[in-house]
Amino acid sequence: MTLPEVRTERLLLRRWREEDRAPYIAMNQDPAVMEHMQGLQSPEISDAFIDKVEAHWDEHGWGLWAVEVPGVAPFVGFTGLWPATHVLGYESRETGWRLARQHWGHGYATEAASESLRFGFEDIGFDEIVSFTVPQNTRSRAVMERIGLEYVEGGDFDHPRVDAVAYPHIVRHVLYRLDRPRWEARQIRRS
Ligand SMILES: CC(C)(COP(=O)(O)OP(=O)(O)OC[C@H]1O[C@@H](n2cnc3c(N)ncnc32)[C@H](O)[C@@H]1OP(=O)(O)O)[C@@H](O)C(=O)NCCC(=O)NCCS
Repeated sequence: MTLPEVRTERLLLRRWREEDRAPYIAMNQDPAVMEHMQGLQSPEISDAFIDKVEAHWDEHGWGLWAVEVPGVAPFVGFTGLWPATHVLGYESRETGWRLARQHWGHGYATEAASESLRFGFEDIGFDEIVSFTVPQNTRSRAVMERIGLEYVEGGDFDHPRVDAVAYPHIVRHVLYRLDRPRWEARQIRRS
């Protein structure tokens, strides 16, 4: 059985609530947060994305969690798993994250993303989880490396959904991956 709500040491990873919409919209209008994306996101697009995420949870039992830090803030951003098939061209899912600027630097993304991997491999049974970003997004790459994803040599690719005319500097992406055997090996090393 899949549990769509999970607690980690400091975080509650949960389904999205109506109250998350305003802080999510605000986060997507912060140039620091959106530096490596295709511009700021309008309230309409942000709203529609929440609807899409919630529908995905209902249909598939996995997806992107809203991240709450009990005692600190009811919504700091999102993390979790999302389909990547449309980007990579083969059946795959990515682990991703986005936090409001004032919540960077606390290890929340790393803590939440570690749980995403555990959830994906153990509870859902995926055989492989990937992540990708632009080479210059060093913070995101650091999260990938901290949670044990491995850079795929020769795996750099042009993101098919980036507007190459308007945003040529964010077309190229680096790819990170972890497969089940390597994830299981890491669990054994840790125990
Ligand atoms: C990517 C993103 C989530 C990373 O945020 P982050 O704060 O750097 O990552 P974490 O939450 O894991 O925090 C790590 C930092 O907290 C520090 N930290 C403090 N307490 C910590 C703790 N208890 N555990 C772990 N790290 C801790 C770490 O030392 C590290 O600091 P550093 O950046 O000075 O090295 C954030 O930059 C972001 O939302 N960016 C915009 C959206 C984006 O680009 N998303 C990815 C698209 S592919």
